[in-house]
Amino acid sequence: MSQTGTVILDHLDVPIALAPMAGGPSTPELTLAVTEAGGFGQLAAGYLSVADTAARIATTRAATTKPFGVNLFVPGPPTPVADLADYLAELGAEHDLGEARFDDDDWEAKLDLLVSDPVAAVSFTFGCPSAAEIARLHTAGSEVWVTITSPAEARIAVDSGADVLIAQGAEAGGHRATFVDRTADDQTDPLSLLALLQLLTTTVDAPLVATGGIATGAGIAATLAAGAAAAQLGTVFLRCPEAGTHSVHRSALTTDTPTMLTRAFTGRRARGLRNRFTLEHSATAPTGYPEIHYATAALRAAARSAGNFDEVNLWAGQTHTLATDRPAGELVRILASDTKTALEKALSRRIQSC
Ligand SMILES: Cc1cc2nc3c(=O)[nH]c(=O)nc-3n(C[C@H](O)[C@H](O)[C@H](O)COP(=O)(O)O)c2cc1C
Repeated sequence: MSQTGTVILDHLDVPIALAPMAGGPSTPELTLAVTEAGGFGQLAAGYLSVADTAARIATTRAATTKPFGVNLFVPGPPTPVADLADYLAELGAEHDLGEARFDDDDWEAKLDLLVSDPVAAVSFTFGCPSAAEIARLHTAGSEVWVTITSPAEARIAVDSGADVLIAQGAEAGGHRATFVDRTADDQTDPLSLLALLQLLTTTVDAPLVATGGIATGAGIAATLAAGAAAAQLGTVFLRCPEAGTHSVHRSALTTDTPTMLTRAFTGRRARGLRNRFTLEHSATAPTGYPEIHYATAALRAAARSAGNFDEVNLWAGQTHTLATDRPAGELVRILASDTKTALEKALSRRIQSC
């Protein structure tokens, strides 16, 4: 199928987007470094107040004339309290827990902010905004990028009016973007990036941004060859000096600890470095986002302060050992040059046509 372009993707100097990374790592400085190096920087608005989101947009806009994006969490329904009781009792036996409360991450107010103070693109995870919400953002002049993890979600996003699909493979660090998070889905392997891209290019006709486990020029080249218009990288930027990554997380990323998918910290499936908390609680953790996220927030903060990486959510993708502490702009330039080299090398392979 042919792929239409978008204003942003068609004008990027390098086909690299910075993944939004809520919870600390995303900063205006990191967004700016990637943007100024010719990539597409995105700010994460998840967990932030509306005022802090507005302030970060203002800081970024004051420092560049280039386009950048802002990412929002699409809220799901509250979890019935009874579904969480056993798990909260299990955690509560060893830890002081916070209130397992629900909120929608200020969804309406953040949308209103982005309609009144538009950015080049608004990207989404955890669901698809309604057609009316997407239309509001279009009227404000923004592109709408929706993260999807399957062809079925891709069709919903396209039917709702999304301009770009961010295809998230199983390799990705952080939360899975799935529209509906179900414990039953733990019995099914999530699609890896290359499998997902091949399925998408034969089922939807929308520009794709590939994400999950991409940390080298060769990785970017592979996703471009598989039909993506750009690659979105997260974990490889976590150790950059411009990132707001906590020191405990930074130093854990220098180890070769394997990653795993877990609901233990937040009640939503996410990939992070394996540690004692994930090993002890992943089997029993129920679906329950954001309630479990709030219940464990204080224990995670205390562990961070104490330098105890065994009780911190160390989000990371499968290629985290490739992350370095290079400045982000330098990293983008190296990745761009390595992408070109990898594509040329691939093209130099002999392919005999019959
Ligand atoms: C620390 C961290 C925080 C993340 N926060 C967000 C977020 O706020 N919004 C979002 O859409 N994706 C978030 N993600 C997922 C990324 O958008 C992306 O899918 C992922 O980083 C790609 O895999 P990689 O980390 O292997 O590059 C996060 C990922 C990490 C590692």
